[in-house]
Amino acid sequence: MTCNVDVNFLVEKAKSVLGNSYAPYSNIHVASAVLTKSGRVYLGVNVENSSYGLTICAERSAISSMVTHGERELVAVAVVTDMDKPIPPCGACRQVIAEFNPEATIIMHSVKTKETIVMNLKELYPQPFKLTTT
Ligand code: THU
Repeated sequence: MTCNVDVNFLVEKAKSVLGNSYAPYSNIHVASAVLTKSGRVYLGVNVENSSYGLTICAERSAISSMVTHGERELVAVAVVTDMDKPIPPCGACRQVIAEFNPEATIIMHSVKTKETIVMNLKELYPQPFKLTTT
């Protein structure tokens, strides 16, 4: 799939914070970089909790930062992990990304194998939930 996003640039941005991932329970470290239309990048990592269900995924962490800084025009999301394979955003994160761009470019990268997969959110999550009244 072709896209106008600098894939390596966004992967490098996410890699720069991967070491900050707080994952003492799963030991799965994830970092995310969100690119907006303005060209700015927002970063996030997964933040786990001893009450497991409170864990925040890296993508939602990065999107929270984007919104906090007054931006909403999301173009691409990079998801970087230390697992053996690139990982796609979980279902909850797909829905949250779709809120800001159902056609976002999704970049998945494993620092272990250096494999990168690029997809469109439309392929990963073709039917986001939307309130019909809005
Ligand atoms: N994780 C993410 O950060 N993003 C995803 O899209 C999938 C899962 C994190 C949450 C948890 O800390 C660990 O990966 C294992 O589920």
